Amino acid sequence: MAALIESSVAILLFCLLFTKAFGACTLDNINIGTVRSGREIRGQPEWNVTVINNCPCPQSQIKLSCVGFQSATNVDPSIFLKQDDLCLLINGNPLQPFASVSFSYAWDPPFLLLPNNSMVEGC
Ligand SMILES: *[C@@H]1O[C@H](CO)[C@@H](O)[C@H](O)[C@H]1NC(C)=O
Ligand SMILES: *[C@@H]1O[C@H](CO)[C@@H](O)[C@H](O)[C@H]1NC(C)=O
Repeated sequence: MAALIESSVAILLFCLLFTKAFGACTLDNINIGTVRSGREIRGQPEWNVTVINNCPCPQSQIKLSCVGFQSATNVDPSIFLKQDDLCLLINGNPLQPFASVSFSYAWDPPFLLLPNNSMVEGC
């Protein structure tokens, strides 16, 4: 318990220092990597997408622009939910500092996914 509190304080301090030194986190701190998995599903290449929060603060309400997104396989809507031209990540729940979330889809060509929205929490 004490260790937990200590590490929370350490994270909070790091957060404050980081914010002071580098300014608040922005959409640039959300990095999206797409790699070909090597599998094909119903004739479409499969892509693994990893979204990383490269910010020492949690970020929630992460939305990616995903114009025209579709997939030959099911994408778990609790991870990636299409809402028109934007897709909501993990139901808008916070993505912890330096944590990542991954999902796969199958389509050709792959979609250009770009961060569109996030709320920086606690810093
Ligand atoms: C793609 O994702 C699948 C399912 O999570 C995983 O088994 C596979 O190793 C990943 N492939 C690459 C190239 O990242
Ligand atoms: C976010 O999406 C909206 C609606 O599609 C768009 O008008 C806006 O330009 C986007 N902003 C960024 C930063 O991509």
